[in-house]
Amino acid sequence: MAAPTTSPKYAPPFARRVQILPYDLEAGPLSHLQAERERLAGLTWEHFDAAPMGATIGAELSGLDLARDLPDDVIAEVRQALLDFKVIFFRNQHLTPAQHVAFARRFGDLEEHPFIPANEDHPELVRFEKSPDVGGYENGWHSDVSWRVEPSMGSVLRAVEVPPSGGDTLFCDMYAVYEGLDDATRAQIDPLVAVHDYAQVFGALIKPGQLEELREKYPLVEHPVVRTHPETGRKLMYLNRFFGRRIVGLSDEESTALIDRLCRRAEIVEYQCRFQWAPGSIAFWDNRAVQHYASSDYWPARRVMERATIVGDRPH
Ligand code: SIN
Repeated sequence: MAAPTTSPKYAPPFARRVQILPYDLEAGPLSHLQAERERLAGLTWEHFDAAPMGATIGAELSGLDLARDLPDDVIAEVRQALLDFKVIFFRNQHLTPAQHVAFARRFGDLEEHPFIPANEDHPELVRFEKSPDVGGYENGWHSDVSWRVEPSMGSVLRAVEVPPSGGDTLFCDMYAVYEGLDDATRAQIDPLVAVHDYAQVFGALIKPGQLEELREKYPLVEHPVVRTHPETGRKLMYLNRFFGRRIVGLSDEESTALIDRLCRRAEIVEYQCRFQWAPGSIAFWDNRAVQHYASSDYWPARRVMERATIVGDRPH
């Protein structure tokens, strides 16, 4: 489609989105990103450099050695960068598993995952070990452990072994998703609550005899569809199709249609950034503010990643 010009053929305003009928498809600038993009461009940092990646999400931080026991003021500034950029990346950090755990612990207690295998010596490190026999199933937009009563605050993912090509991870800014909805949809979803269920993804791994015990340990949980970030105070959409099962008070049909329509907004490329891994790369994402998608385009190559997951609080 040709770009609008000032020719009389094209009437302003040019920042308008247009619908491509008969599809549920829009094109045009996402002008609501401008304020956050400009805010991020104006940030300055004392202890590291930050190179922004997407319009409103992602920055590569350089100048830090994460293997060191970093002073508190440096950790506080890393935390601030996480809140601002929503996901931050580090290169050439060849951490041992113990150093990985120690760095993540600076931001809070760590969870153990009941379903995904862990590093042999460090149960706090979930290990994603992919090979010709084990495919990558993380290729859907999700936030980690939204099926917990208190889903995680953040995840620190370390590349142990990367495939010769592919295996990137994509991240989506869920503030931008919420703010990009029309007024009527925002008003509709603001009061809604969704049920989240671990079994949608992990149910297939559970032996029939374990079902009841696990359901007692990990019951269905309800979280607001729109949550307020506990540190930034901003509202964002907190809903994903991996674990989101239904919306309270809606029929199954209405619920599935609404969840599907809302979650497809994470697919908007302008809300995303994409990270290409190399040995020694680390991604640290704010699991309250972003969703992620691990591209599963490298099979049958090996891809090994380890993740420390920081305990969070109950969404409100
Ligand atoms: C995950 O879903 O936490 C794993 C992401 C990845 O392997 O890139």
